Amino acid sequence: MRKLITILVSAIALVMLATAPVLATTTTETATLFTGNCAGCHINGGNIVRRGKNLKEKALKKFGMDSTDAIAQLVKNGKNAMPAYKDRLTEQQIIDVSAYVLEQAEHGWK
Ligand code: HEC
Repeated sequence: MRKLITILVSAIALVMLATAPVLATTTTETATLFTGNCAGCHINGGNIVRRGKNLKEKALKKFGMDSTDAIAQLVKNGKNAMPAYKDRLTEQQIIDVSAYVLEQAEHGWK
C-alpha cells in the first residue's frame, strides 16, 4: 500500500513537472494565436458578428461554452458564421487558444 502511494505521488509530481513549463511558455504565443486568428471577430472578447455570442464569462456560461473542451470543439468545427480551424491550427494550438479564452473570460478580458 505504501509503495502504491509512493508511485501515485511520483506520477502526479511527474505530470506536474511535465506540464508546468508548457503552460508557462505558451501564454504569450497563445495570445498571438488569438490575435492572429480570433481577434478579427472577437476583439477584447466581443463578437462583431453576433454580439450576444461573445467570449465574456456570462455568455460562455449561458451557451455551455465554459470549458476548454466545449470551446475546442467549436473552434475545431466552426459554427454558422464562425470558421472551422481544424485545418489551420494544430490540436495543441486549439486547446491552448481555448484555455486562453477561458482564462481571459475569468479575468474580464483585461
Ligand atoms: C469570422 C468571424 C470569427 C472568427 C475569426 C472567430 N469567431 Fe468565434 N464566433 C463567431 C461567431 C459568428 C460565433 C457565434 C456562433 C453561433 O453560435 O452562431 C462565434 C462563437 C464563438 C464562441 C462561443 C461564444 C458563446 O458565447 O457561445 C467561442 C468560444 C469562440 N467563438 C471562440 C473563437 C476562437 C477561439 C477563435 C479563433 C481561433 C474564433 N472564435 C474565431 C465568429 C468568429
